[in-house]
Amino acid sequence: MKKIYILGIESSCDDTCAAVICDGKILSNIIANQEVHSKYGGVVPELASRAHQQNIVPVIQQALDKANIEKEDLSAIAFTRGPGLMGSLLVGTSFAKSLAIGLNIPLIDVNHMQAHILSHFIIEDGNIPPPFPFICLTISGGHTQIVKITDHFKMEVLGETIDDAVGEAFDKSAKILGLTYPGGPLIDKHARFGNPKAYSFTKPKVGDLDFSFSGLKTGILYFIQKQQKINPNFIKENLNDLCASIQHTIVEILMDKIKNAVKETNIKHIAIAGGVSANSGIRERLETANKHFGWTTYIPKFEYTTDNAAMIAITGYLKYLIKDFSQEDINVNARLKVTE
Ligand code: KG4
Ligand code: ZN
Repeated sequence: MKKIYILGIESSCDDTCAAVICDGKILSNIIANQEVHSKYGGVVPELASRAHQQNIVPVIQQALDKANIEKEDLSAIAFTRGPGLMGSLLVGTSFAKSLAIGLNIPLIDVNHMQAHILSHFIIEDGNIPPPFPFICLTISGGHTQIVKITDHFKMEVLGETIDDAVGEAFDKSAKILGLTYPGGPLIDKHARFGNPKAYSFTKPKVGDLDFSFSGLKTGILYFIQKQQKINPNFIKENLNDLCASIQHTIVEILMDKIKNAVKETNIKHIAIAGGVSANSGIRERLETANKHFGWTTYIPKFEYTTDNAAMIAITGYLKYLIKDFSQEDINVNARLKVTE
């Protein structure tokens, strides 16, 4: 049977990514990070779209070269339609459309949040995809949701954040501590050397399956301001303990919500997805959840946690199999929901 090659293109935020997948197996997965944002403490949309324009051709070429194929070998082009930054999405979408038209092959639009979840279906040695139905805790810089998945493209949101996303909670806490953007990975790094019980922060009180992180951020800010009045070097002298305690609080909040979701649905197959699923704290807690709670957990490989095009390519492949193609006039949707 003829092999199916899909090129995935991801440009929803500040990473320009391209990947090639063949019959569900990843052949290449290229990411160009945009360093330019770090000195601004967050992503600057204008700069992001400009950097995507500079990066997109070389990144796609690298993905094809690494996969050892020519663009004429491709069966379809999959791209992120949303959610994300409008200008960033437009770069990937316009490029995907032109390439698909030029090569006369199908175009496949992909929902970025569905793709984070569907990265679990990449065919790879040692990867067992979750069986349906399963629960996915989708945790990224823009989203925090508990999703019930009954089929590849049948998803239901059971709960979500009412304010900040968990990635924002990490990044904003990091900013308070004077760490550069994105601060999530830095908190994780320092947390390894700190005491998670050194400080305690109040957990939010919201609905069973909903999240709230804005109060936590304010609580951390007030605590730090108070301590700095007593000791101006407070952060510097206690950075590892502060990071460990913040991470511990966030991981506990996430674990409480998963427990509630298991209680409500009686589903014990639990996956995590999105940038924050790279966090060593949540990964370790879930790795032992089988022993402690009788759950079967699905933790993505590190390279499929933060934004990448492998997840776009696998979603494109799953859509290709059911011939779910896009029209050439399809538009980006910056606020696309995981259920759309
Ligand atoms: O999925 P993602 O790459 O982009 C979005 O779709 O938002 O997620 C990015 C988020 C950022 O907030 C970043 O700080 C966070 O994921 N993140 C982490 C870690 N690695 C990335 N947060 C905590 N620990 C990490 N190791
Ligand atoms: Zn993402």
